[in-house]
Amino acid sequence: MRDSASGEPLIRVRDLRFRYEDGTAALDGVSFDLYPGETVAILGPNGSGKTTFVLHLNGLLRGDGEVIVCGLRLEKRNLEEIRRRVGLLFQDPDEQLFMPTVVEDVAFALLCRGVAPAEAEKKARAVLARVGLEGAATRPPYHLSAGEKRRATLAAVLAAEPDILVLDEPTTYLDPPAQRELLTLLASLPQAKIIVTHDTEFAEAIARRAVFFQRGRIIAEGSVAELRRLYGWTARPARGDTTAPEGAQPGSPR
Ligand SMILES: Nc1ncnc2c1ncn2[C@@H]1O[C@H](COP(=O)(O)OP(=O)(O)OP(=O)(O)O)[C@@H](O)[C@H]1O
Ligand SMILES: [Mg+2]
Repeated sequence: MRDSASGEPLIRVRDLRFRYEDGTAALDGVSFDLYPGETVAILGPNGSGKTTFVLHLNGLLRGDGEVIVCGLRLEKRNLEEIRRRVGLLFQDPDEQLFMPTVVEDVAFALLCRGVAPAEAEKKARAVLARVGLEGAATRPPYHLSAGEKRRATLAAVLAAEPDILVLDEPTTYLDPPAQRELLTLLASLPQAKIIVTHDTEFAEAIARRAVFFQRGRIIAEGSVAELRRLYGWTARPARGDTTAPEGAQPGSPR
């Protein structure tokens, strides 16, 4: 199932468990590997733990269990390096944009890494052009439309040139041509990718392997098409069929 099976996994997670402060058990023993060059889709119902899981991959959350990224165990002394390696696109763009202008947001990670300001700005502007946002460089992020914010956060993640891309619902708010362009852009990037998405068409176009989350666990693995069939995981009824497929209710697989 791997796109290019080779050597050690880039990400290795074993028996990861996490409880939020209010007692919600969001991850209940997740094990997962990501290998170099592969793209894995993460599917599953609302509230099944997908976002909680990916927030562990660069240490924004810390649960019990093992998380190893590029051979580095997730612990305080490795955090900076792990965050450089893993580019995380947040599900909510508003959580990722905090600078006075779009171009400063996109250049931020480069500046933190010691890239000279002029070089960082040049690079940031080039990446903004790649996501179709060149005209918005000097605008405040909070003035952007939802889709423009999504493009800006994508640019910020890509500009940092991480080894691994972890994208939580990257297509949300994007218009259809922008979704297509995103697909082409992602397919052209060599990095290993984890893509959380409810858009199974998008997932199928980009990922050969998918995992299915339910109640904080990975309960199945296969191709997107296999998981879609197994769980009736489709947003639209077939033409002429007004009833949802049997077993299609979120959280109740057949
Ligand atoms: N900050 C929080 N405090 C308490 N519970 C939380 C918090 N964030 C998420 N949860 C709970 O943890 C569980 C997993 O949430 P998570 O956001 O990981 O789901 P998800 O699979 O990403 O869902 P979606 O498809 O809606 O994005 C849910 O029950 C959710 O209500
Ligand atoms: Mg989520």
